[in-house]
Amino acid sequence: MKYLTKTGALANIKTECLAIPVNALKGLGRQLKLTSYLNQVTRDFDDVPGKVQLFSLPDSSPVKRVLVLGTGGNSRLNDQQLLKVLQSLASGLKQAGCGSATLSLTLKSSKNTYALSRLALSLISSQIYSFAADKKRSSKQKKIAKLAVHANDRDRAAVTKAVREANALDTGAALTRDLANCPPNICTPAYLAKSARKFSADKSTTVKVLDERQIEKLGMGAFMSVSIGSDQPGKFIIIEYKGGKTSEAPIVLIGKGITFDTGGISLKPGAAMDEMKFDMGGAAAVLGTTKAVITAKLPINLVTIVAAAENMPSGKASRPGDVVTSLSGQTIEILNTDAEGRLVLCDALTYAERYKPKAVIDVATLTGACVIALGSHATGMFSNNDNLANKLNSAGEFMHDRVWRMPVWDEYQPQLNSNFADMANIGGREAGSITAACFLSRYAKKFNWAHLDIAGTAWLGGARKGATGRPVPLLFQYLIDQC
Ligand code: BES
Ligand code: MN
Ligand code: ZN
Repeated sequence: MKYLTKTGALANIKTECLAIPVNALKGLGRQLKLTSYLNQVTRDFDDVPGKVQLFSLPDSSPVKRVLVLGTGGNSRLNDQQLLKVLQSLASGLKQAGCGSATLSLTLKSSKNTYALSRLALSLISSQIYSFAADKKRSSKQKKIAKLAVHANDRDRAAVTKAVREANALDTGAALTRDLANCPPNICTPAYLAKSARKFSADKSTTVKVLDERQIEKLGMGAFMSVSIGSDQPGKFIIIEYKGGKTSEAPIVLIGKGITFDTGGISLKPGAAMDEMKFDMGGAAAVLGTTKAVITAKLPINLVTIVAAAENMPSGKASRPGDVVTSLSGQTIEILNTDAEGRLVLCDALTYAERYKPKAVIDVATLTGACVIALGSHATGMFSNNDNLANKLNSAGEFMHDRVWRMPVWDEYQPQLNSNFADMANIGGREAGSITAACFLSRYAKKFNWAHLDIAGTAWLGGARKGATGRPVPLLFQYLIDQC
């Protein structure tokens, strides 16, 4: 979808559909000389946040249809009400099925025009997305392709900035969802590498892909212990984007790219196993975020690392009881081959040290325990740095792509004790997402680090099965905030 800014009198704007708060209809009616008509069609409108009504205007009007938004009178909307209004706007636009539309976002809330536009466009972007395969199926229904935000002269700069960033985010989040939705026989580690290589078309970006021979030679024994069981060769992908000053330390994003997680020899039960194609959701998210950063030409230095492998059972696969040596030199006793995410990530974390980074954020569909703890509304956040954690938290609130911080206290660390290696790769039944984070923390001592467990937020199951594009809005916003 393409976003743009429109200025000038509302009544002069030619549009298939104008979305407008109910309390702004009077002004519109006056300008269009349609006051009595508007009064008549909206007579029964229930003015409550979250209610919408779609109606047509006479042929002579440059505005063809109007999507009225309930706001609950003239008082200021609280954050929850505002969200309701914007979510109903997004689903109303989808249902309207017009090719283009214009938003008039004169809503009273605690948010300024910039923040309001960013949030609205992000929510609409997630509603309107559809996967390529079902794009073909539903081609009869018109999909909105152009969305304008109306700005008055005072707000013009704010809306223009918001629209520019929204375009970049929409492009990035769409890549994330396309990659994550892609079937696992197609979306292999090599496929992720191929799609990362496309970024090198940008002149500030270089892409390097290590193959298994190079990964092995570097000493990434933990990564290799996962990849070895699959016929699909693993790939270690490094993207360097230099948009900032040469002297500036980069931010590193790391994505878990398990293109299919069977559990390995510790095989998973069969129910819903197809959803383990989404186990590269972290990789998809950091690739989508990188695409957004490149598109927006953000003045930062960013390194993106994807640890891509498939977790399969086979005659070559790792066994419970195997001991492997990670790139850091620390040894790991693999007690469960289904705890594979931390094994590929720990080597990526150690690799990140060479960049002397300002911060490292890893993103992973890491634990089922995180879904039990937080459900599908919040991403689990773990960090060794309060400042970084607070920044991620605010970026998440800003875009309504929220995280909830969980502890990485030393008290949990002994759960990883092993009699045969420096640590085990599992920590028992209790606090499963925390012990997974504790494992990673042992590889993140040399920098500011945050770990985002997106097991509950990266995709939806059931009838609406599919990737959500989370946490790209959060990550992109965090990076914008660094500029
Ligand atoms: N990819 C899974 C985590 C997962 C499971 C995400 C279900 C979303 C839904 C991960 O590799 C895994 O299997 N984790 C195990 C860890 C356990 C063996 C310590 C888990 O969560 O059961
Ligand atoms: Mn697993
Ligand atoms: Zn996994």
